[in-house]
Amino acid sequence: MTVVSVEHALAGRIPAGGEVTVRGWVRTRRDSKAGLSFVNVSDGSCFAPIQVVAPAALPNYESEVKHLTAGCSVIATGTLVPSQGQGQAFEIQASAVEVTGWVEDPETYPIQPKAHSLEFLREVAHLRPRTNLFGAVTRIRHCLAQAVHRFFHERGFYWISTPIITTSDAEGAGQMFRVSTLDLANLPRGKDGAVDFSRDFFGKETFLTVSGQLNVEGYCLALSKVYTFGPTFRAENSNTTRHLAEFWMIEPEIAFADLAADADLAEDFLKYLFRAVLDERADDMAFIAERVQKDAVTRLEAFINAPFERIDYSDAIGLLQKAGKKFEFPVEWGLDLQTEHERWLTEEHVGRPVVVMNYPEHIKAFYMRLNDDGRTVAAMDVLAPGIGEIIGGSQREERLDVLDARMAQFGLDPEHYGWYRDLRRYGGVPHAGFGLGFERLVVYVCGLSNIRDAIPYPRAPGNAEF
Ligand code: 4AD
Repeated sequence: MTVVSVEHALAGRIPAGGEVTVRGWVRTRRDSKAGLSFVNVSDGSCFAPIQVVAPAALPNYESEVKHLTAGCSVIATGTLVPSQGQGQAFEIQASAVEVTGWVEDPETYPIQPKAHSLEFLREVAHLRPRTNLFGAVTRIRHCLAQAVHRFFHERGFYWISTPIITTSDAEGAGQMFRVSTLDLANLPRGKDGAVDFSRDFFGKETFLTVSGQLNVEGYCLALSKVYTFGPTFRAENSNTTRHLAEFWMIEPEIAFADLAADADLAEDFLKYLFRAVLDERADDMAFIAERVQKDAVTRLEAFINAPFERIDYSDAIGLLQKAGKKFEFPVEWGLDLQTEHERWLTEEHVGRPVVVMNYPEHIKAFYMRLNDDGRTVAAMDVLAPGIGEIIGGSQREERLDVLDARMAQFGLDPEHYGWYRDLRRYGGVPHAGFGLGFERLVVYVCGLSNIRDAIPYPRAPGNAEF
């Protein structure tokens, strides 16, 4: 007996003797008048389940096989043979079907063989991976994560694990979750009434990271090409379809590089990832195209084949003002672009991905490099048709005096950022990087309408169960 995955069985990888064992969960069972049962079994290794043909001669046919329902777990052994049925190349003629786990009450089993609403499936996040959609999204997510590491590895980048617990607010936006071992009911307080964090675990007030960027800059200024890929936390109270409180971010950082090199890297990176999905997950993408987003495959192909357009922020404002379209939010130099503006630029005006560069300095983070005009910074956002902003990045301010002035402007205490300033004091170089929100990428590839379906267990305001 050779245990094989459903993926290998469906590909017809027949071992010597032709006998295989597959293990998985029942999707459907159909009984024929001829005294056979057709049991579709999925183990999640690929999109399709395999058909197990169980004959009435099996000793547990009447007692067990004929009672199998969706969700039961089974171990099926038999001969792998070319299938007569449509839509699959191979099936298993079973010589044994062992039931390893029954479904307690088939009537109330949440994952029935029918379409469920995504809202409902979010309430059973622990069982939704058994559906076609979440199986596909999970495998696509995995494929993308592998491609992320491969892309960087092939180009000589090193993966840096940056800390999750930190004292610094990398984005200076004050959206951090506090980490503390202090007893909330008996918080130690100083004379001024403020909480005395010196008695806390780390001896300082600490938070969950909002970005690994500042830490990865240190490694960039030693290993030249680096990236982080890890969990990131933001306590922004945005109960939207685009925001998570816990998401994964990919942040490459390159030394001796400017904003143009950064934009080139972002373009190569996204195209590489989309190519990988199309090449490696054709089965799942075909399902997405059939059930979720009709043009799921063609739009990725179009993305890969289109050179990104680069537009200066100031020019983008001019274009939006002349668009002749009524936007909900005002368009004015100095204001940030809203999703409706970004989508107009990328979808209606250009019709392909756009990199908007050189934003007003006062709407961007303190670490971004001040341009010679004194009023913009070397920042970029990559906008994609169908989603808007997907990547945010910048060239970093490498001049200590300018960085200090920017920190003062943002009200940041240089004492807090001593180590970050050191990177400018000891062999600083121009360097740049960007951040790609991993779930935004999954949303885009899978044509999802809510980011909560792009991560296994979403964390959002009021939502931390499972
Ligand atoms: O634009 P952001 O805030 O940039 C940074 O954090 C920089 N430190 C990146 C860098 O230059 N190394 O965030 C980067 C990306 C966004 O473009 C978006 O894709 C994603 O992170 N993102 C979120 N994704 C899900 N939920 C949220 N709440 C997100 N906030 C940002």
